[in-house]
Amino acid sequence: MNTTVTSRLSGFHKLPMAERLNTLSKMFKLTAEESSSLNGHSSLDMVTANQMIENAVGTFHLPLGVGLNMVVNDREYIVPMAVEEPSVVAAVSFAAKIVREGGGFFAEADDPIMIGQVQLTRYGNPEEATAKLLAHKEQLLALANSFHPSMLKRGGGAKDIDVRVLPAPEGPKAEPLLVLHLYIDTQEAMGANLINTMAEGIAPMVEQLTGGKVYLRILSNLADRRLARATCRIPVPALADFDMPGDAIAEGIVQASRFALADPYRACTHNKGIMNGIDSVAIATGQDWRAIEAGAHAYAARDGQYRPLSTWTLEEGHLVGRIEMPLALGTVGGPIKIHAGVQAALKVLRVTSARELAMVMVSVGLAQNFAAVRALGSVGIQKGHMALHARCVAVTAGARGDWVEKIANLLVHAGAVKVEKAREILAALSPEEMAAATGN
Ligand code: MEV
Repeated sequence: MNTTVTSRLSGFHKLPMAERLNTLSKMFKLTAEESSSLNGHSSLDMVTANQMIENAVGTFHLPLGVGLNMVVNDREYIVPMAVEEPSVVAAVSFAAKIVREGGGFFAEADDPIMIGQVQLTRYGNPEEATAKLLAHKEQLLALANSFHPSMLKRGGGAKDIDVRVLPAPEGPKAEPLLVLHLYIDTQEAMGANLINTMAEGIAPMVEQLTGGKVYLRILSNLADRRLARATCRIPVPALADFDMPGDAIAEGIVQASRFALADPYRACTHNKGIMNGIDSVAIATGQDWRAIEAGAHAYAARDGQYRPLSTWTLEEGHLVGRIEMPLALGTVGGPIKIHAGVQAALKVLRVTSARELAMVMVSVGLAQNFAAVRALGSVGIQKGHMALHARCVAVTAGARGDWVEKIANLLVHAGAVKVEKAREILAALSPEEMAAATGN
C-alpha cells in the first residue's frame, strides 16, 4: 500500500492540467499508458469500442476530474469523476475538506446480495404453489448454482429463495402475481448476467413444481439487500461562512433536510444532487449507472412517498449527515477489465473491493449533497454555480487557454454571465489580444 497517498492537495486546481495528471501519476505510480488513459488519449480504443456495442462509430468523451479531500473510514481517497456539470467536482472537494475536519466520512456496505425475479402465472392455488416452491428450496438453489459453479467456489452464488404473492393490478377477481425471489451473492460483480442466467435456469423447475407458466426472469435493480451507508459529523462552528455563524448555516441545512423529507418535489432535486456525485464516480469506474439510478429512486420511494436518501440533523453541537441507498457495483465484469480508462481510474481510487467502492461512492453522494444544501440553505446556489458556468460561457463565445478564466472573471464581475457579454468583451480586445484569446 502506498502510505504517501493524500487527497489533501492544496492548490491542485490552479495547476495546469498536465501538472495535475503528473501529480497523480507520481502518487499512484501510473505507467505511461495508464496516464494517457486518464487524459483520454487512449482510454478506449476503437477496436474495443467496436466489440462493446452494436453499430459503434467512435467513442464519446466527458471531462474527467478528481474529487479531493475525501477521507472515508480514516483512509484517503482521490476520487475520479466523469461529469459535464461544472460545479460537481469542485463541490465534492469543497465539502470533503470541511467534513475531514470533523474526522471524515464513516461508511459501511452490505454483502453483495442481489435479487433475481421469476414471475409465475397459472399456478392454481397461491398458498399451495408457494409451499411447493419453498419445500424445494435446496433443489432450486442447487440448480441455480449449477449455472455458475465458480461463483459458488468463491463463496458466492444463490443463497436463498422467497416467494411473494402480490395483489393483481386488475383487482381481486384476477389471479394474484406470484414472484419467486432468488437471493444471490454476486461477490465482486454487479452481477446482472449471472443473476439473469440463474433466474432463467431455474424457470423450468419452477414450472414443473407448480404446473404454472413462467414469464419474466430478470434481476431487480431495487437492490435493497445491498445497501451502502455513510455518516459525517461536522462541528457547528466549522460551518461558519459567507459572514454567517456556523449555527445559522447549520439551521439552513436542517431546514433543507426537513423540506426534502416532507415534499417529494424537493426530495427529487435533493436526490438529484446526491446522484451528481454518485453517477460521476460510477461513470469513471465503469459501473452501470442506470441501474444505480433506478435502484436509488425506487429505494427513495420505499415507504410509499418519495423521500430524500440523506438527512441532516443537529446533535450535540454537530451537524450530522446520514445517507443510505442501494449500490450494486462491481470491480469485475461489464466494461471494467476492458476499458483502459476505467482501469486507470480504479488504480487512482485504489479500492480493493466492490464493497469498498460502494463506501466511497455513497460518501461522495453525501459530500455532494452537503455542498448543495449548505449553499441552498444560506446564500443560494447561483453565486458559486455562476462562477463555474462562466467558464463554459467564455468557451462558447470563443475564448481559449488562459483567457477562459480571464473572460469568466470579467463576466462574473459584470454580473452578466452570458455568451453575448463574453463576445462583447472579446470584441473589445486589441487584434493581438483577440488572437491570443481565441487562438485565431
Ligand atoms: C444541481 O445539479 C443539483 C442541486 O439542484 C441539488 C439540490 O438542489 O440539492 C443543486
